[in-house]
Amino acid sequence: MIIKGDEIVVIIGRKGHGKTTLLKALASQLQRRAIFDILGSYRDFGALVPTAAEVCAYDKAVYIPHSEAPEQEFEAFAAAVLQCGYRTIILDEAHWIYRPKSVGKNAQFVLRLGRHVGVGIWMATHRVLDLAKLVYQQADHIFLGKLLVPRDLEELRRIYGPVVNEAKELDRGEFLYINIETMKTKRIKIFKRQVGTNREVNLSNNNIESNTKTEAEEEDDIL
Ligand SMILES: Nc1ncnc2c1ncn2[C@@H]1O[C@H](COP(=O)(O)OP(=O)(O)OP(=O)(O)O)[C@@H](O)[C@H]1O
Ligand SMILES: [Mg+2]
Repeated sequence: MIIKGDEIVVIIGRKGHGKTTLLKALASQLQRRAIFDILGSYRDFGALVPTAAEVCAYDKAVYIPHSEAPEQEFEAFAAAVLQCGYRTIILDEAHWIYRPKSVGKNAQFVLRLGRHVGVGIWMATHRVLDLAKLVYQQADHIFLGKLLVPRDLEELRRIYGPVVNEAKELDRGEFLYINIETMKTKRIKIFKRQVGTNREVNLSNNNIESNTKTEAEEEDDIL
């Protein structure tokens, strides 16, 4: 499984399924990342920058929005990232920014054209129906966890087809990975390891479990 920094990754699943854990595990493998940290839970993932405009001052930057309009702050953040290029935006609770009816200009630009300047976005949300359609249309990789209501699965089935049905039987921390280009799927599980007092996750081969036939040939290419 190869996921490139300039691609679009969407992690979906009900509350508490393990989306943030997976997003952190994926993000930790990136050399250059720009985290838009709505809930302030990625503080130890890089240098905290006081303004969105400074996000490119560090290869690993974290920006915590402080106003009641994070969408507007995301516009400034995205503008800065698009300007410097070659970074992956990490966006947890993405429904705050990619709302169905009003996606900002730069937020759209990231999805549609970000790859031309080396910019991708990896995001997570539990609000399937509250995420802009554009996100689903532009996604390269989906990690689908268990969903809360059948309506969510129906919506995803409309977009991606019956392949999403495989997500019905997942446990916490388990995801159905879908490569949108090939429509190949793979079931993965993130293992949490206790390290000292910190819990940390490593998406290396021995921490990720897969049940597909291609596992052996893909062993070196987790990310
Ligand atoms: N693979 C796993 N194995 C065991 N426990 C896990 C695993 N992944 C997550 N958890 C635990 O489940 C809880 C929820 O995880 P996490 O915060 O990642 O979920 P989430 O989907 O982001 O939830 P929310 O929708 O509330 O943001 C945490 O206590 C976490 O430690
Ligand atoms: Mg979360």
